[in-house]
Formats: sequence, C-alpha cells, structure tokens
Amino acid sequence: MDKKTRVENVLRYHERTKHQPNRFARGPGHLDWANEPYPFRVFEGADLFRLPFLAKDPSAGFLSLFDRSETNPLPLTLDHIASMFELSMGLSAWKSFGGNSWALRMNPSSGNLHPTEAYLILPPTDTRPDYGGIFHYNPYVHGLEKRSSFDGELWQRIRDHVGIDGFLIGLSSIHWREAWKYGERAFRYCNHDVGHAIACLSFSAGIHGWRVAWLSPLADNDIGTLLGFDRTSWHAFEREYPDLLLLVHSSGETPKNLDLPPEIVRSFSSLPFEGLPNRLSEGHADWKIIEEVAFAAEKPRTAVMECMFGNDEYAIMKATMSGATIIRRRRSAQAYDREAAMNRDAFFSILDKTVPRQGCAPFDAGLGDVAVHLAIFVHRVADLQQGLYFLCRDTSGVLNIKKCFRSGFLWERVKAAPESLALFLLEPGDYREIAAAASCYQEIAGDSAFSLGMIATFRENIENAPWGYRRLFWETGMIGQVLYLGAEAMGLQGTGIGCYLDDMVHRLLGITDDSYQSLYHFTIGRPLEDKRVTTLPPYHHLTPRNQK
Ligand SMILES: Cc1cc2nc3c(=O)[nH]c(=O)nc-3n(C[C@H](O)[C@H](O)[C@H](O)COP(=O)(O)O)c2cc1C
Repeated sequence: MDKKTRVENVLRYHERTKHQPNRFARGPGHLDWANEPYPFRVFEGADLFRLPFLAKDPSAGFLSLFDRSETNPLPLTLDHIASMFELSMGLSAWKSFGGNSWALRMNPSSGNLHPTEAYLILPPTDTRPDYGGIFHYNPYVHGLEKRSSFDGELWQRIRDHVGIDGFLIGLSSIHWREAWKYGERAFRYCNHDVGHAIACLSFSAGIHGWRVAWLSPLADNDIGTLLGFDRTSWHAFEREYPDLLLLVHSSGETPKNLDLPPEIVRSFSSLPFEGLPNRLSEGHADWKIIEEVAFAAEKPRTAVMECMFGNDEYAIMKATMSGATIIRRRRSAQAYDREAAMNRDAFFSILDKTVPRQGCAPFDAGLGDVAVHLAIFVHRVADLQQGLYFLCRDTSGVLNIKKCFRSGFLWERVKAAPESLALFLLEPGDYREIAAAASCYQEIAGDSAFSLGMIATFRENIENAPWGYRRLFWETGMIGQVLYLGAEAMGLQGTGIGCYLDDMVHRLLGITDDSYQSLYHFTIGRPLEDKRVTTLPPYHHLTPRNQK
C-alpha cells in the first residue's frame, strides 16, 4: 500500500470513528457477555517462572518518578526487573461486587479490558550464563512465560550495538479485547493503553534508577520477528499486533544506538518459540475497519526520533507519599464530589508534570517532539476563575494554534502559574455542562475540579507518517498516566475518558478542519468512593508462598 493510500485510510478511520451526539461510532450495540475476552494472555505449554514480589517498596519520593534525583541505579538483576514489572504492569487490587470480581492493574485500561501485552528480551543471567530468553509477562501470577531462548553470543551483539547493559521490553495489542466492547473505535483505545503502559514502565524504571528508551527506528515487522509473533499460532481474531520495543538501561548511561540492525533481527527469525496462546473468546465479531487501519498505520523502519526539551525545575507542591505508594494507589474515580474545590498550587503542580523536561520521565522515552496540548475546563480550582484554558506543552506551536482556533479567545497568560507552564485563559465561564456533554454526557467530566481535552497537531503528523496516528495516541496515554499519578499525589483522583464527542470539542475551540483534533479526555477531582465495592489485595489468589 502506498503512503498516500495509508494516509487516506487513517484519516477515514479517524473520521468514521468519531462519536457524534446523534450517532456514536459503530459498536456492538449490546455486550455479548458469553464472548467477553479473557483478560489474561497465557502461553499454554510454555515454562513459567514465578517472579519474586517486593518485600518492601522503594522509598524514593514522588519527584523521583520524574527526575530520578533521589535514586541511584539498581543492578539490572532479575529481582529488580521483577519489581519494575510489579510496579508497572502487575495487578494493583481485586474488586468485587454483586458476586462478580475483577482484577485491576497498575496500568489503567479503557473498560478495564487490557489489550496491552508485555514481553521481555532478557540477557543471560547468573543462573543461565549461556542463554538469554524471550518471555511473556503474565500479570495474573506475576510470572514470566518462556517463549524462546538464544545463546549468549546473540545477546553480546545486541549489547555491543547499543553500547551499554540493559534489557528489552516489547509491547503489543490485542485489538479484539477492546473491539468486543467498543467496536470500530477500539483501535484508538488500544493505542491510548499503549501510551499508559509506556509511561507506567518509564516511571517504574525511574524508581529503580533506570530509563526506558524507545528503539524508534524498528519496524513493526522487526518487533514481530523478535517476539516470535510470525511463529505463533494465533487464534482467529486474537492475534497480537506489535507496538514497540523499549531498551531499559541505567539512567546515567547513554545508548550508543537506538536501533537494532537488520542482521540482528534476522538472527531471531530462526529461533523456535514455545507455547500456544490461550483462546480469549469462543466467538468474535469481525470489525474489518480495525484490520484496515492497523495495516494502514503499520510502522516501517524509520530514522530515530529526536527530541529536545527544556530543563526547567519541577516547581510547586511536593507530595508526601513515595512514588511506589502513588503507583499502587492509582485508581480511576467513578464519581466526583461536585462541591469540592482543589488547591490552585496542586492544579499547577499536576499540569507542570505534563510538560516534558530533558532527561525526565516519562517523555524522555523518546517519542519525538510534543504534538499534544491541553484544552482545560476549570470548574473548581480555588483562586482561579472558572473557564476554558489552554496549556501549550511546547510554546513553539502557539502562533499556529491561535490561528486555527476561534478568533475571540483572550489568550491571557495565567500569571500565577509557574514559568514552565504556558497556561492561557481563553474564555471565563461555567463549562461544567459543556464539559460533561463533550465527554459523552459523562458526569465525571463536569463534577470534577477540572477536565480537559488533549488537542493534537493532527493532519500534518498523519501526512508525515501514517503510523504516527498510533504515536499520537501513545503521547496522549502517557500524558494521561502523568495526570493519574499527579492527581493521586495531590490526594485527588483522575479518570481517563476515551468516550467523547470529537467534533463538539472542535466546534467549541473553533477548529474547522483536521489540523488539530481532540484525541483523549481526562478529568480530575475529589473522588466519591463506592462503598458497596469490596477491595482485595492484588495477589490474594496465589498460593501463600507466592502471595503478596
Ligand atoms: C484510555 C482510557 C479510556 C477510558 N475511558 C473511560 C471513560 O470514557 N469513562 C470512564 O468512566 N472511565 C474510563 N476509563 C477508566 C477505565 O474504565 C479504568 O481505567 C479501568 O476500569 C481500570 O480501573 P483503574 O483505572 O481504577 O485501574 C478509561 C481509561 C483509559 C485508560
């Protein structure tokens, strides 16, 4: 497929999967509970290694999630890799209500359906000095399923190429998991979730004194080869699509290269892979357009993504909880206290973390330049007037944004905000009803202290690279994760909102074409707890020896 057709297909998918007030994107209409996808991928027949649980959480503070100032790099041992995964892709709790129970994870997911799977490519270890391996991370048991092994010589070639010690993480998406509930719009949600997962891994790496770096030049096909997807017998409709590969390394070191040469990738193509993927559902609906957009947005080999950010210090309120505690506590609020106002410094503090800094998590994962800004509905922030605000996460684009937005906006810089926050008041007013309506009439967007739409530079990015469609959603998911943790750190809670009325937001901002598009919503405030729901520890279902 040529690039022009790919661009057209991606743009068509995006347009077609917009929710409109009188027409939601095509979905299943009702939930087919008999075929609800099983939330855990298991490779049946693959050897399973249970990972140890943390005896005690790292004490590094909230800021260490971002700037790693308090953390010395830990050795890259299997125990520490285990704790990195426990605090990023592991279970966070079980909930039960009305005879049903369901697991929650450190990484959030639209509809709690968890389309994102994680793989590890590990170097030879002390116990297996001759062989490295390719593993699937199984969060249900906090274990690694061994899919393949390779000799130490192959790992040495990778090590020589990147120039430093480390290991690799691969992420993939099972589109069916989301399509079961959300139909055609599911491709968007899968990519949001990938963004959340990247940020989760980046933060968890951060509290180990490590960094995750995207090996951005790799093609999806390369990742499929490395992870053995081309040698896996997927069940129909349940195939996994490769998303990206991350190099994890000590944060003080700089990789010599951020790719893997084709000859190294080819060396993986002859490895045998163990294990059969479990069946997730008996029956499936065929959402053809997802297959089409996935094909149109497939990533080829590219140059490395460059990004240079500022160096401003993180200002404003300090959190008292440790980074790990905040990660474990993170939950989506189901309802908000519509009387509760939040503190203005806490508001600035949360937003401040969404602005990338050089060498700071999670945006130093290397997804390239900022493409996403925030249109914010301030409902209840003490000492800040209600209204519609705009945060430019990178000020170089302000002039163009102003040109494309409604002409009557004030664009008045919020003087009380720290220097690092290019926050503008566009229009004062009570936006509670409008914000809720724009988020598919969900009250959580109007009852909170503030909610927002993530506005991406759109057509230009898609025309430049159709696969960039996915990358835009990754960036929004990463911002979402920053907001989730920022909210928890300030004693509040956030909720990602994938259900929103796209063009209602565009009309509100005066955007008349697809130069900019709203790609994700988010809301933050004081949560109301549903006391009917019982919470259980994350690994209570395991045998005592392996319990957390
Ligand atoms: C991409 C994304 C979209 C979401 N969209 C909505 C939404 O539209 N409405 C809502 O109430 N919750 C939404 N959520 C919250 C999820 O339902 C929640 O993350 C999931 O149930 C897991 O719960 P937890 O976040 O507490 O772990 C969304 C979450 C994500 C990551």
